[in-house]
This record gives sequence, structure tokens and C-alpha cells, in this order.
Amino acid sequence: MEQINIYSGKKAISRIVAAESLRDLPSCLEPYRSIYAVIDGNVARKCPATGQLTEILKNRNAKIKLIETSEEGKTLETVMDICAWLLENGADRDAMILAVGGGITTDMVGFASCIYKRGVRFAYVPTTLLSQVDAAIGGKTGVNFDKYKNILGIIRQPAFTYMCPQLLDSLPQRDFLSGVAEMLKTFIIEDNGNYQKAADLFFDISSEYHVEVMMYGKDEKQAWAEILKKHRRTLSGLISAAARVKAGVVSRDQFEDGERRKLNLGHTFGHAIEYLSHKRHNDIDHGHAVALGMVYAADLAEKLELAEPGFAASLERDLDATLLLIYNPYSIHDMAEAMRKDKKAENGKVHFVLPRAIGDVVMHDLTVDEVVELLA
Ligand code: GLY
Repeated sequence: MEQINIYSGKKAISRIVAAESLRDLPSCLEPYRSIYAVIDGNVARKCPATGQLTEILKNRNAKIKLIETSEEGKTLETVMDICAWLLENGADRDAMILAVGGGITTDMVGFASCIYKRGVRFAYVPTTLLSQVDAAIGGKTGVNFDKYKNILGIIRQPAFTYMCPQLLDSLPQRDFLSGVAEMLKTFIIEDNGNYQKAADLFFDISSEYHVEVMMYGKDEKQAWAEILKKHRRTLSGLISAAARVKAGVVSRDQFEDGERRKLNLGHTFGHAIEYLSHKRHNDIDHGHAVALGMVYAADLAEKLELAEPGFAASLERDLDATLLLIYNPYSIHDMAEAMRKDKKAENGKVHFVLPRAIGDVVMHDLTVDEVVELLA
């Protein structure tokens, strides 16, 4: 078990527990007298580790609520529903609210905990790769509102985030790939030799999957679960490494006044692609959109002579090899329209995060028109 702290100045304000299994969760819950667990229904139904988790919660007399999650359901109404359940079940200021699920669950339960009785303690057990490497670290909580993603929210740190790879064994390939994109993004921001290790691992995973399914005709779900299990240890090491990078960035800039913006690498283009896809009933998920977005950002860096020629192409090859790249059906003009609507545009300028090389990104403000001119 490894413990990674998030600091505010010299004070540790949150800890990430990177464990091999659920064995150490009871000791993390030990200090709390009344525990209220909100669990994603999908996790409860499909994750093989749920039995062990429920046992741990029952031993602590935890009250349990299941919620159904979706991007459409990430609303104030769902947060109110969680608050109403806490109230009905007598949660007081001493309560510990435990969120078990992916980023939608942790964002909403975190937000409910921040406003319930003006704020009670909360902790996360993230069950997706994306939430283990990104969403459940750093204290961003919130919901969607109007047509904007995560536009209402608070930054406040969970008491702890308990991560274990055992919870990922049944993660569908599509959800896993969203996490792969965020992990590679993290190592493009700060490498320490991990980018290549991660690219190699995800290349192996995708090759083995193809061999098992396409050549040996194995059942897709079974092959995927077996391959993930086989690579659990390496994956676990990389998850901890990504968590260390993010914990460092958040410790230096908790409220996103500067350096934390780097974590948006690939997201400005990526959100535009997701937005267009959603509007036109295409099916580009977060991971693929962010992967495409990182290649556009690298291309932009090349055009601005910040990155060496060929950098975008080599990044594209790496992402392609991990199953992440797909054809982007949208033109730069379509994407520009969507970017103009993005909440991050300030005074006509958009904050772009541009990679100069692996492990070296810079922030650069550009108008959408300048971007179109460079990339069209
Ligand atoms: N997901 C980006 C951040 O936490 O800042």
C-alpha cells in the first residue's frame, strides 16, 4: 500500500491510498463513526468486488444508497436526492459520506457532501480508470447545468481516495480507454519515464485483445477481463505514478489559478468534439475525444514552432496503437464553432495547453480565429 498526500502549503489535506486490494479499506474507515455510502448501481450490479465491499460496509453499520448515473442525470436534482436521503437517515455533522463509482458519482456525492449541513466529510472509492487517475483526485466536485458540463461545483478535498486495481477488472473496454487517454495525458504533462511504459502497456493490452478475440474467437468481455487481470500489477504501478503527478500539480495549484490548467491538455478540442458528437448522435466518447484533442494540440504546437516537426505524428501513432484514435468526422470550422461556446473562453481568448514534447507542456492563449488560421 502506498500513500500519496495532497498538500495545502505544508499541511496534508487529502490522501490517496493506492492499495493492491480492498484489504486496507476497513482501516481507512476506522476513524469514522457514522458512514453513509452512495454507490453507483452499475458497480453494485457488475463489479465482482462489490460483495467484499458490501461486507466491509455492513461491518461498519454503514447506510447504503444506490444511484443510477449518466451524464444527463448529473444534475442538481440528483444531488438534492442524495441530500434528502442523508437528512432522512439522520446524517449529522459527524457523518462520513463515501462515494463508490466513477467520476459522475464522485463529483455528485462530493458536491452533496460540500453543501449538506454546510459541508461534511467525504471520501472516494473510484471504480473506473478515469476516476482513479483523474476525477477522484484534486477535489473538483459538481454537476452539469443548462447546457454546460460541470458548471456548478466546489473544489474541496476528500478525506481520502482509496484506489485498487481489483475494482477495474470488470471495466468495459470503452470506459477503460477513457482512463487510458487521461493517464497518457498526465504523463505528457510530467513524464518521469512513465509515458513510454504506459504506451507500451496499452499497446500490449490492445494487441493481446485482438489476438484473443479476432484470431482465437474468444468472447470479448471474457478476453478483456482476463487481459486486464494479467496486467494488474503494471497497471497499478502506473495508476500510482499518475496519481503522484496529479497530487503534485494540485498541491501547487489547488484552485486552478495557473499550473492546474495544464491538466486540460487535449480537453479544449476534445470537449468541442464531444459536444458535436452529442449533438449529432455520433458516438465519440470522452477518451477518444481527448486523444484526438491531444493530437490537435500537438499539431498546433508544431504550427507555432513550439514542438519539433513530426511530434504530432508520433503522438498520433502512439495513441492509435492503444486503440484510442478514431477518425474525427468534424472539420476545424465545426470545432471552432463549438469552442466559441466553451466556458473556458475569456475575452475572446481560449487557454490552450500545448505539448512541446513528452513531459513538457506550456499554456498559450489564442483566439479561435487564430487556431482556425493555423490548422485549416
Ligand atoms: N480534471 C482536471 C482537474 O482536475 O483539474
